[in-house]
Formats: sequence, structure tokens, C-alpha cells
Amino acid sequence: MISKKVEDNLQKSSWIRAMFEQGMQLKKQFGEENVFDFSLGNPDPEPSEGILATMESLVRVPGIHKYMSNAGFQDVREKVAEHASNESQVEVTANHVVMVNGAAGGLNVVLKSILNPGDEVIVIAPYFSEYKFYTENHGGVVVPVPAQAGSFNLDVEAIKNAITDKTKAIILNSPNNPTGTVYDEKTLNDLSNVLDGVGHAVYVISDEPYAKIVYDGVCVPAILKIFKNSIVINSFSKSLALPGERIGFCIVSPNCEDVNLLLQAMIFANRTLGFVNAPSLMQRVIAEHLDEVVGLEEYKAKRDALYDVLVDAGFECRKPEGAFYMFPKSPIPDDSEFAKEALKYNIVLVGGTGFGYPGYLRLSYCISMDTIVNSRKAFKELMKKYR
Ligand SMILES: Cc1ncc(COP(=O)(O)O)c(C=O)c1O
Repeated sequence: MISKKVEDNLQKSSWIRAMFEQGMQLKKQFGEENVFDFSLGNPDPEPSEGILATMESLVRVPGIHKYMSNAGFQDVREKVAEHASNESQVEVTANHVVMVNGAAGGLNVVLKSILNPGDEVIVIAPYFSEYKFYTENHGGVVVPVPAQAGSFNLDVEAIKNAITDKTKAIILNSPNNPTGTVYDEKTLNDLSNVLDGVGHAVYVISDEPYAKIVYDGVCVPAILKIFKNSIVINSFSKSLALPGERIGFCIVSPNCEDVNLLLQAMIFANRTLGFVNAPSLMQRVIAEHLDEVVGLEEYKAKRDALYDVLVDAGFECRKPEGAFYMFPKSPIPDDSEFAKEALKYNIVLVGGTGFGYPGYLRLSYCISMDTIVNSRKAFKELMKKYR
């Protein structure tokens, strides 16, 4: 018999996959080109030629596939630290960097390192639903705080009101999945002032896999500079289109409370969660491509195209500044019901309820431009009855 808790979670977490499988079924029935599948956030570009060439050039380097320090290669951490120092204007060294297995690995490493049973972790709804499972993996409890209606920006007052003696951390994700919102510097500074006034350290865990996927010159403020107790988690799953390779890094602010002890805890967690160390070949690959983003121009064109399709069909939708998701309002309050109705028009999307924000819909646009353009008619047909 499997664990009761996992059994419960299996039921709760199957919704995106269920939509994806329904999409697969429709594709079999109607042909790939006649199904408009916006369900999954799997980057569609291939890694660049440069990245592939770096992989090829490194694969036979003697020693590259061996065990190493659980924190990762020293020289890679030095490059990551130098890059982060330049971007954030906060002086970080290799000692503040732990190489991890993607953002998912990094989040688990950090949460294992800081949580005691019953500790609370604030998440901003709508939120990446895995946060709940990762937090519960380590005995914590998520406390969702809704974002501001319409803008999906942080509601600093609501966050302040949600903080208790048990609040250990807050997870920020900007650019955001599922809304695409980028939090502005003033709002983040306001939050920082609130956290400075709390009687104990509240860690800001900044989950940033989309940090480089931003449009129209929008700038993602440097979390390390704004928050004293900050931990930045980054990954190359989206920016370099390498989600299967499981590579990312965590940086702990040098100003963080108990910084050295926290880093020791994270290195221990990386080992004992069974990651041991981040994939060795990929550490060396990303060190050569820290500034690169794959497919940014294409994502921007797809964002503009999908926004146009949705607004034209009658959806109320905010044009996002980053990531590759759109989060329009469902024309009926029951988003699951609407997602089911959309399937009848061969449109696959997921309801906001799964992201802790009912009444909305999430669409991923990291798919082919043809799918987006050709979905216009289907969306218009679907929306006819809701006008
Ligand atoms: C907000 C957010 N955080 C973390 C992850 C996990 O990313 P990774 O592949 O780097 O583990 C994802 C993946 O979709 C995500 O959207």
C-alpha cells in the first residue's frame, strides 16, 4: 500500500497532466494540426547551436563525469557568482552558490534547509502548484496570499496581514507562472520594509527560472539587492531550453542571517535528498552560456499573437511582461467547466483553480506559432455563447 499522503496528493495533482492527456487523445482523433494545446510549459525551441557545440566539446574531457563537491564545481560557482554580482550589484562569491538540479531541486534544497514542522511558507496566488508539495515534503504548510486583482502584482498589505510567528519564508516568482507578471522595484521595496519590521527572519525565496524571458525592455529587479534574507533560485530549463537536463543554481545573499550555516545546510540537503550534486556536464555547459536566452524574439511574437487572438475572441486578459504564459479571465466562474467546454473546440487549456486562483485560465504559448494563429477561429466559436 502506498503512503496515504502521496495517495491524496496523486489525486490533487493530476489536473495539468489530465488535460495534456486529453489533448493527446484529441490529437490522435483529429490530427495534430487541428488541436490547439496550450496546457504544458515545455519550451518548444531546441537549445542553440552554441550550447550543443559546448556539450560536444566537453563530453570527453577527462574527469568531467566524476563525483565532486556537493555544492558543485568551484570554477563554475565562481563564474556564476561573478555574473550574479554584476547583475545585482551585490558582491557574492563562489561560497554563496550551490549548483542544483533545476529550480525544482533548488526549492527542495532550500525548504529542507530552513523548515521545522508546521512552519509557514507564504505563496502568492495564483502560484506554481508544486510549491505546496515541495513545502509539505519538508513538513511546512503553504499560506496562499492572493495577488492584486487585475495586475497580479504583490498585495503587500495582504502579505503583512498573513505573517505570523510561524512564517519562515515567502516564495516570490517573477516573471510569474501562471500570470507572466514582473514585480516592480517599488512594490518589492515596500515588501522588504514590511519584512524588516517582523521580529524574526523571514526568508525571501526568489524562484527565477523565467528571469531572462522578459519583453519590451522590462527589467527584473535584483532580489539580492532588495531583501536582506534572500535566496535566489535560477535554472536553465526555460532560458536555455534545457528542462530535461536538470541544471540550476541557488545563491544565498551574503547579508542573510546565519549565511554560512544556511549554506552548509543546503549543501547537506543537496546530498541527502539524493541529488548528491547537480549534473556535472551541464554545470560546465551553463558556465559558458550564462547570458544567453533561447528563442526570446519568438516568444515575444507568440505572446503578441496569442494576446490578439484572445482579445479578439472576447477574453478579458492582461498582456504579460514575461515568462510564456497568459492568464485570462474565464467567462464563467467555474474555470474547470470552461476548460471542459474548450475541449469540444479542440482547445486544451488549464483552469486557474489548480493555481489557487479560480475563475481564470492558464495558457502556455511556448508552442508553434501555427498553433496559435490557427486557434483564432476555434476561440471565436467557443466564445460565441458567452458574449
Ligand atoms: C515557477 C516555476 N518554478 C519552478 C519550475 C521548475 O523548473 P525546473 O525545470 O528548473 O526545475 C517551473 C517549471 O515549470 C516553474 O514554472
